Order: sequence, then C-alpha cells, then structure tokens
Amino acid sequence: MSSTFDVIIIGGGPGGYFAAQEAAKAGLKTAVFEEVHIGGTCLNEGCVPTKTLLNSVKIYKHAKEGANIGIKATGLEYDHKAAVARKEAVIKMLVSGVDRSVKKAGAEIIRKRAVIKEKAAEGFVIEADGEAYTGKNLIIATGSVTSVPPIEGLKEALASGFAVTSRELLDLQEVPKHLCIIGAGVIGLEFASYFSAAGAKVTMIEMLDHIGVNFESELSSLMQKKLEKAGCEFFLSSAVKSLTADSVCYEKDGQMCEVKPDLVMLCIGRRPNSANIGYENIRITAERGAIRTDCHMQTNVPGVYAVGDVNGKIALAHTAYREAAVAVNHILGIKDTMRYEAVPAVIYSDPELASVGYTLENAKAAGFDAKAVRVDANFSGRFLAENEAGEGFLKLIVDKKSERVLGMHVCSTYASEFIAQGALAIEAGLTIRDLKEIVYPHPTVCELIREAAFSYK
Ligand code: NAI
Repeated sequence: MSSTFDVIIIGGGPGGYFAAQEAAKAGLKTAVFEEVHIGGTCLNEGCVPTKTLLNSVKIYKHAKEGANIGIKATGLEYDHKAAVARKEAVIKMLVSGVDRSVKKAGAEIIRKRAVIKEKAAEGFVIEADGEAYTGKNLIIATGSVTSVPPIEGLKEALASGFAVTSRELLDLQEVPKHLCIIGAGVIGLEFASYFSAAGAKVTMIEMLDHIGVNFESELSSLMQKKLEKAGCEFFLSSAVKSLTADSVCYEKDGQMCEVKPDLVMLCIGRRPNSANIGYENIRITAERGAIRTDCHMQTNVPGVYAVGDVNGKIALAHTAYREAAVAVNHILGIKDTMRYEAVPAVIYSDPELASVGYTLENAKAAGFDAKAVRVDANFSGRFLAENEAGEGFLKLIVDKKSERVLGMHVCSTYASEFIAQGALAIEAGLTIRDLKEIVYPHPTVCELIREAAFSYK
C-alpha cells in the first residue's frame, strides 16, 4: 500500500477511530495511527471500564438492600477481582469490535507512534518508526493525560505506588481499606461511588466548596448526600499541598490537616496530550497545550484538524465523536459546524446524574429571563416501582419569553439514557408546548419530562 493518504489521523480513541470510519466510508483513503490500543482512554481505561465496574457494584448493592423488594440473600459477597476480570473481557470485546468496524469501513490502522514533520507540496508529512507518510488532510486526535501538578511529594508517591491515577486503580485486584481521592470531579465521584459500595472507606479532598465541578448545584448536593450515606467522607474547600510516604496533607481554613489512607487516587483534571507530536513543526497554534480550532474543528493551518480532548474544549468521548464528524464533513465540503450548547454530561452513580444545557444560574448570567420547573422523580410510576421512594428529580430550564428549553438536569435511574431528549430539545429549539405534544411511553422515568412540561406555569 502506498503511504499517501487523503486523511491521516493521529490517535485511535473515540475522536480518531470515528473520524477514520466516517472518512473511509465517504471514500477517502484514510489511515489512523495508534501507538497503544484502538479505542483510546475511553474504551480501555476510562468510560467503558468504569461503567462495567459500576454495574457490578450496583447489582451487589441492590441485592444487599433487596429485602424490601423480595430478595433475601445469604452469604452475599462482593468479588472485586471477578468484576475486574469481567471488565477486561468487556474491553477486549469492544476493542476488537471497533478494530473490525474501522477496517470494514476501509481505513488502515497503523500501530505506530506518529510525529508531524513538515508540510510538503503533496500534504502533511508524518513520521512513524522511521517511515514517512503523507496526508492531504490531518486530524489530530491524541486525547489527554492525567494532570500531575507540582504538589510536593506527589511524583514520589506516584513512583512508590502510594498514589495512583484512574488507570492503575482500574486494575487493582484488592479493594483498599481506606482510599483517599484527591479531586471530587467526575472521575473522583465515579470511583468514590464504586469503592465505597465495594467496601472501602473513602475520603475525598476537594479544593472547591462543592463537588462535581460544574454540575447543577442541586445535583451535586444530592450526590454528596448519597455518598455520605454510603460512608464517604468529604473535605471541601481543602487544597492538597503535599504527600509523604503514607499521608496526604491538605490546607483547610488556613490550617494544615492530614489523612493517612492505604492508597491515594489522583484525579484533579486532565490536560491535552499534545507534547511531542510535532504540531509546532507546521506552526499549529496551541494554548497551554490545547490545539486551537474553529467551528469546523480546523486549526490555524488549513487542512489540519484537532478533535477530542486535545483541543481542550470539552473532554468527553461523545463530544469527540461529534467533533470528528464535523472535521470529516469539512474535509468533504459538507456544510456543518460544531455547537457546544447541548453536550450532555453524566455521572454514572446510582442513581445517575445527567445534565445538558444551561443551569438556571448560567442561563441568567447569559442574559436569559429564565426559570426552572422541577418535578420529583416519585411522580414516575416506574421510578417508584424500581426504587424505594427516594430522592431524585428532573428540572427543566426554560426561557420565559420563547418558552424554549435551555437546559435539563436529572437525578434518577436511566438519566444517562434519556438525557439525549434534553439535548434534542435544545438543538431543535423545542418549546414547552412541543414537549407537551410528544407521546411518552408509560410507565417510564422519562415521563418526568412530560410531567415537568405540564407543571410549567
Ligand atoms: P475534573 O476537572 O472533573 O475535577 C477535578 C477536581 O479536582 C476539581 O473539582 C478541582 O477543584 C479539584 N482539585 C484540583 N486541584 C486540587 C488540589 N490540589 N486539592 C484538592 N482538589 C483539587 O477532573 P477529573 O475528575 O480528573 O476528570 C477529567 C475529565 O474527564 C473531565 O473533563 C471529565 O469530564 C472527564 N470524564 C468524564 C466522565 C463522564 O462523563 N462520566 C468520566 C470520567 C472522566
């Protein structure tokens, strides 16, 4: 096979493999370079493995608390090792599925590390294992890596194994007795849900005065309450300052405090993985490592695109898929632009938290005369049938003038599955009246949308 392509993609995560598939399906000669595994962080050490583990622990938790629903279990035990083994099997199956579909679409997967070298007359020159490849177009999809800030003792703690990132934690064979999680963002909260239910004592240290970073405030308060009930301990407004061989030191209200866990997990954000990929060689503009892109995902260099976490916009696999489609469409001359107003965010706790669009505060700050309409999840027959009467809710954020939906925030079972209805409403500019005209299946939890629409005054 010749080494000149219409499109060369660097990185085989969700952004990269989806771009490869779509470009190849459209008839473009496409190659995707991947140095580790196809599927990237999402499939191999992020979204999919965590959801697999969370599902195992959810079933265990429900069985343990099942007396009310007619399940009596004796000798019930959680087998973390078996859950980890199953997670591996799920990854393997998905990765091979993705590999097959990329190839079936007609793209070539090149298992090498690629570095951008130069722009020549025929296109962009990439070097991998001493060989040169040329692409008329280039899509950078190299993802992100865990941020390791300059906290005293952190590097040593990571080297000794006292501190780990999500990557190592996913493969841990034993549940630690006491896990300290630094950072109560999305990753930290999902791991706290898992390990507290699997039997660990969990301590979370968070710099902000709330958890979940940008999540809607009632959602994050509810999440905290639920995790506290499960035994998690939270230190908020607390910044980790240093680590020793067996302790984590943090500052709260001007005082230095200490925790002595068995294991520390670091999850205080991720940064674009752009170091050493050679983007500087063709003068691509980046800001603190994030490759800058326009609404077509094109960089300042025509023909070069950046999709997924590497552009520093929204570090979520589903955003990467959409950005990849936009980039490929631009290459094909199909009119399309990237919009970020309706990107859903989910925390896969039990029950799940899901958000899309504006919160009430953000909508007001953006100049909308907005209001929120909130319904309790207990309005849903299915929610009640499947959960002990409990906390859960759905909130719609509505522009009073046009009655258009600006946001949707949910805490309930299946929230991750029906949050896309909120995204659809925002994207399509649907109003409260439109929502009232939709027929929802009964009984379902998504009927809460209908309930909220009819409660709107
Ligand atoms: P994050 O940005 O969500 O949260 C990091 C937290 O660490 C923040 O709350 C921050 O205030 C805190 N922090 C920073 N420095 C600190 C210090 N010295 N002491 C105490 N707290 C400190 O980052 P996270 O959780 O690592 O996630 C990274 C990315 O991965 C996010 O963009 C997230 O959206 C994505 N992700 C999404 C998932 C999902 O959609 N379900 C699952 C996993 C990751």
